[in-house]
Amino acid sequence: MGITVWTKDGRKEYAAAADKTLLALLWENRQGQVHAPCGGKGLCKKCTVMRAAADGTKEPVLACQVYPKDGEEYFLPKEEELSVKTEGQSVQLCPDAGLTGYGVACDIGTTTVVCHLIRLSDAACAATVGEGNAQGTYGADVISRIQAAAEGHLPALTETVQGQLARLTGKLCEKAGVDRSEVRRMAIAANTTMCHLLAGLDPQGLGVSPFTPVSRFGDCYEAAQLNLGFDGEVYVLPAVSGYVGGDITGDVLAAGLDETNEVTLLIDVGTNGEMALGCGNRLVCCSTAAGPAFEGAQIDCGMTAAPGAVSAVEWRDGRVVCQVIGGGEASGICGSGLIDAVAMLLDLGAVDETGRMLEVGEDDIPAACLPYLSLDEEESPIFQLTERVFISQSDVRKLQLGKGAIAAGTKVLLDTYGIGAGQVKRLLLAGGFGSFIRVSSAARIGLIPAELSASASVVGNAAAAGAAAALVSGAARERLRRIQGNMDYYELSGLGAFNDAYMEAMMFDA
Ligand code: FES
Repeated sequence: MGITVWTKDGRKEYAAAADKTLLALLWENRQGQVHAPCGGKGLCKKCTVMRAAADGTKEPVLACQVYPKDGEEYFLPKEEELSVKTEGQSVQLCPDAGLTGYGVACDIGTTTVVCHLIRLSDAACAATVGEGNAQGTYGADVISRIQAAAEGHLPALTETVQGQLARLTGKLCEKAGVDRSEVRRMAIAANTTMCHLLAGLDPQGLGVSPFTPVSRFGDCYEAAQLNLGFDGEVYVLPAVSGYVGGDITGDVLAAGLDETNEVTLLIDVGTNGEMALGCGNRLVCCSTAAGPAFEGAQIDCGMTAAPGAVSAVEWRDGRVVCQVIGGGEASGICGSGLIDAVAMLLDLGAVDETGRMLEVGEDDIPAACLPYLSLDEEESPIFQLTERVFISQSDVRKLQLGKGAIAAGTKVLLDTYGIGAGQVKRLLLAGGFGSFIRVSSAARIGLIPAELSASASVVGNAAAAGAAAALVSGAARERLRRIQGNMDYYELSGLGAFNDAYMEAMMFDA
């Protein structure tokens, strides 16, 4: 008789097996609705689903730990639509003459997928949608996805992302009142691993040094070949290396680094932190594993930048003030909220420069913090931001690792280029979550060099803006090819200078 699972597509019946967890059953049935940041290892506690109990109530269980039995009924969590800010993306879009119909510009991030429906004749944006990357059921970072592919899940990963793009295309058309047959092309900016998974290419070479990709893309596929549900071409933006993908060449194009003579530093903050530095034909880049903290994953109360997420935090008139996406009660905290919160805790003295959160009872604890501080079940300190959302000591540690990696990558890149931070004219913060980031907080936690905060600006999802440019313009694709050829990539892993810089960058300045 099997089990009943209530998904976003309605009621499904799956056959239970004594040795299969619910998560394994969902994988088997290509149902990517449950996000499993730790890849099903039982560590992150984020894969909660509800199971109907005998008395008619529902109880929470972890999908990766529960072995369903015949007759049981499960309810999967609702998929939240992301809040996507589109302001700040000032890229000049110059469509080729004679284009008609619509196209879709996509940014496939490891954590989130954002798509814009673009009218090809004038590059006007008709609709935008964003969701968590449905591959999140196979783990939060690229390494877990590469591992999942190596364990035989490559076809499922490919089907998952292709299915998500096809569904989001339908959603865009519905939102804008456009017939799907009007969609003629798609352009995709994504990191190199995501591009491999989309195209069904084996990503295992990206999991081991020297991180060699099967393809560096920059070419077109037929939409039918990728099962995207429309007729037309799909252009995948070119990658520089295994860890500097088409999302970064898209960022560089959108920010115009290749066409300026002002030395610019661009940091794309996400699960991977990628950085590009330079101007004109002289560009250098690198990538670091920043961990999923900036995307709100593997954080105790973490979530993506969706309604209900605390996206900004400040200390005002002697108390904590939180801004919640969509208003209403906070149900979690996203990356920008976490950065703000830690910056605030540093200013208050509730976290010291080593990243240690002070505990109630310590002499030097600021009195103003006392009402907010307590201990979790493991007797570790937490700082309560709202009734349901708190920051834990381990959250601060994860942010510290992420910001340390990005700050160290930035330092190595500046040294490689032969300049100091003071010689950089512009600092651009990109990335889906980058749209919400507060520059002063990024500088306070040491994510960006303090001397650059005055020249820093937030460019939001520049990769999607780069994809939109490539969607409508052959000249933009030509520029992308040049950017790919001109950008020198520096591999940081195993580099002594990076390791030294990392140790130093882990600290918070007093
Ligand atoms: S605890 Fe289940 S996926 Fe992490």
